[in-house]
Amino acid sequence: MIRSVVQGCGAYLPERVVTNADLAKKMDTSDEWIQQRTGIRQRHIAADGEFTSHLALKASEQALTHAGIKASDLDLIVLATATPDETFPATATRVQAELGMTRGAAFDVQAVCAGFVYGLSVADSLIKNGLASTALVIGAETFSRILDWEDRGTCVLFGDGAGAVVLRAEEGMGTSADRGVLANALHSDGRQHDILYVDGGPSSTRTTGLLRMEGKEVFKHAVVNMAAVVGEVLAKAGFETGDIDWLVPHQANKRIIDGTGRKLGLPPERVVVTVDRHANTSAASIPLALDVAVKDGRIKKGDLLLLEGIGGGLAWGASLVRW
Ligand code: UT7
Repeated sequence: MIRSVVQGCGAYLPERVVTNADLAKKMDTSDEWIQQRTGIRQRHIAADGEFTSHLALKASEQALTHAGIKASDLDLIVLATATPDETFPATATRVQAELGMTRGAAFDVQAVCAGFVYGLSVADSLIKNGLASTALVIGAETFSRILDWEDRGTCVLFGDGAGAVVLRAEEGMGTSADRGVLANALHSDGRQHDILYVDGGPSSTRTTGLLRMEGKEVFKHAVVNMAAVVGEVLAKAGFETGDIDWLVPHQANKRIIDGTGRKLGLPPERVVVTVDRHANTSAASIPLALDVAVKDGRIKKGDLLLLEGIGGGLAWGASLVRW
């Protein structure tokens, strides 16, 4: 039985840090409001000329080094992003070229804040079906480029960044004690389009557009759907909430993360939270959080991880991974 086993991870954040106090100098907001409502203290913002592919490349190089795998060994890159460098080709192909990888396939997936879980599920399926053996799964975003900086209700919430993991096909017994991706669950509900979207695109307006969100509505869906999809993916693999070593959620809002943890009955010390320092980095948020908790020694080989995310679409999903 083939499993997709994580070999290593990496992350990259742009150098420029923008604090809540910095934002309060430019608009009618405050550090107190942002921290109380979201838990965010700061975000990283890409420099002029620094694109999603640049962030993705740096996170990928780190992940390959951590994994001890050469770019020439890769035969798949799946890059989750809602902020590609260009409308086409896929930003993944830019990363492919920069890494010097000349074989296999590289493409993007678009599921906004659920993008990393979607990308991981796609890569896992291709590996299990024998279409790839060594894959880089990246979440990378420059959301600062699609924010309406006049809308204080959204622009304070997001940041830029990238994270990546390397997966490799390994033959094994296929038991739940073996390492690897154990189960995935993906969902979307296109009826919820209007509560979170970008008001432009190549086919509709021929512009890039800006992010629009009804935050309260998204919030309600987030807590309910997250708890449900976590239950679903656990059941698929024959586990219960108590078996989870680490919940690594999409980092949109500390209140959503706390609400989901409470609904699941998970103690806060088993939940990885990085939203305070990265803000919401959409598809990058889960691999960024993963990287922090792996590198600071909290997540160890053999731990059971639950990754979950929700965003525009609405699209949401979860993956259960034996690290
Ligand atoms: O990753 C994709 C998924 N996205 C999410 O998960 C986001 C989900 N939603 C949320 O996280 C929250 O709904 C927000 C953080 C976006 C907003 O929190 P809220 O508690 O729902 O606040 P609100 O939108 O109801 O706004 C409350 C008040 C309003 O003033 P009034 O009408 O009560 O006088 C807003 O105008 O806060 C005001 N407000 C602000 N005040 C200071 C909105 N934005 C700001 C701001 N600074 N930046």
